Amino acid sequence: MQAPAITTDVLKPQPTGLPSGSEPLAVDVTNLGFSYGDTTVLNMARCELQRGRSMAVIGPSGCGKTTFLHLLAGLIRPVTGTIRVLGQDLDELQGTRLDRFRGRNIGLVFQRLHLLPALSVTENVLLAQRLSGGRVDATRVATLLEQLDLGGLEHRKPSMLSQGQAQRVAIARALVHSPALIMADEPTSALDDEHAAQALALLHSSARRVGAALLVVTHDQRVRGSLDSELELRVPA
Ligand SMILES: Nc1ncnc2c1ncn2[C@@H]1O[C@H](COP(=O)(O)OP(=O)(O)OP(=O)(O)O)[C@@H](O)[C@H]1O
Ligand SMILES: [Mg+2]
Repeated sequence: MQAPAITTDVLKPQPTGLPSGSEPLAVDVTNLGFSYGDTTVLNMARCELQRGRSMAVIGPSGCGKTTFLHLLAGLIRPVTGTIRVLGQDLDELQGTRLDRFRGRNIGLVFQRLHLLPALSVTENVLLAQRLSGGRVDATRVATLLEQLDLGGLEHRKPSMLSQGQAQRVAIARALVHSPALIMADEPTSALDDEHAAQALALLHSSARRVGAALLVVTHDQRVRGSLDSELELRVPA
């Protein structure tokens, strides 16, 4: 993934096409189509998710769950259709403006975590906070790491972490700037029951605290049961 530009000029979500006073949907997708070359991966008439609500994205391996999250984060572009995130049509944003919008408003736990190998645990999380354009708050970072049972590992590089520890750093990084849309791609795949429960509780409490929408790709029954609704994707015929 291309690193977003560092900036303090925060791009706020722009409500568009809505009556004044009504809050835009966190996720508002219409007629979404996506292909890799000739292979159609996604074909979705409609998907919506309000702020304050949570949704599981489920479906067999290869059906396009990760692709869907990357589309919602504006990391890849749809072939057809419209994606609005927090009222902002992603098609209207390019380059730095898109990076800023993502950095401020979206927290994404990647399936392949994408921690920066040269940075320590704390630095990885601090960087996300800085890129969001918000205040750099080392105490918040330390608290989050503590809540994910990562106390004592702050100075380690990602290569010195277990898979489950690295997954929890990725969760801290996605939550540190209190985004209004939290997305997590199999966030508990490497976690034991205790740490999965801890991570799940933190995802929910972080969403509740700011009225964020929470979208989780998961096969994990521990996680599925805690989410408000489910979106089932299928491999297109
Ligand atoms: N960069 C790419 N180029 C070409 N095809 C790709 C690329 N990335 C993914 N695909 C294909 O697109 C389809 C959807 O992939 P995606 O990673 O979104 O699936 P997924 O539902 O997240 O699967 P999993 O549960 O295994 O993580 C798969 O058939 C995959 O092989
Ligand atoms: Mg995937």
